[in-house]
Amino acid sequence: MLIGNKLNLRIMEKKDMPIVKEWVNDIDFIGDFEPITQETITDLEKQYESLTEGQWFFIEKKDGTKIGYVAHFISGLKQTAIGYALLPNERSKSYGTEAIQMIVDYLFLSKSIIRIQAEIHPNNIGSQRVLEKAGFDKEGILRKCFFSRGEWRDTAIFSVLREEWKEPKILTKANI
Ligand SMILES: CC(C)(COP(=O)(O)OP(=O)(O)OC[C@H]1O[C@@H](n2cnc3c(N)ncnc32)[C@H](O)[C@@H]1OP(=O)(O)O)[C@@H](O)C(=O)NCCC(=O)NCCS
Repeated sequence: MLIGNKLNLRIMEKKDMPIVKEWVNDIDFIGDFEPITQETITDLEKQYESLTEGQWFFIEKKDGTKIGYVAHFISGLKQTAIGYALLPNERSKSYGTEAIQMIVDYLFLSKSIIRIQAEIHPNNIGSQRVLEKAGFDKEGILRKCFFSRGEWRDTAIFSVLREEWKEPKILTKANI
């Protein structure tokens, strides 16, 4: 488990997929910007098992309440990328900021990578802000790159380089 200030990140197990299924099939959880999905537990178990270089974590409060997830994976562009979402009633309480800073610290402290990427909808201001607070900069827009919710949508690419991160914000080498 990764220990933060107000939060912990707990690695998911295959047996956790029923919770993930409830979340990712819930349009309120997905929010206004991500593609709507209809995932079965079997679909999620297959995705979980095929994660060779990635991990999925629950975002938990200190009392163990699960309030969302953050994941890292290798993107279609062969980059180390992150994705995340919080339960609707746990948003705008700075949990997203802490969880993203923790996963960035974890990745740079534990892996020999020089770059982390995030792909977001250009209008997802909350997501943009948590990335900026973790040191990410906007690189550009992939135009009309996927079809969702009845239209071809753009994706904004954000990244942070190891040289920009410089030092951990929340985690330390001692607790990785
Ligand atoms: C995106 C998300 C993870 C942000 O986490 P959060 O805990 O709500 O964000 P925080 O409370 O840490 O807020 C960080 C900053 O963003 C701002 N912010 C958060 N949500 C916002 C919104 N909807 N609109 C505008 N600003 C917003 C906060 O005011 C804060 O600003 P500040 O640092 O200037 O004071 C969360 O809103 C979420 O789960 N959204 C739905 C799923 C999603 O879109 N995931 C990302 C997919 S790429």
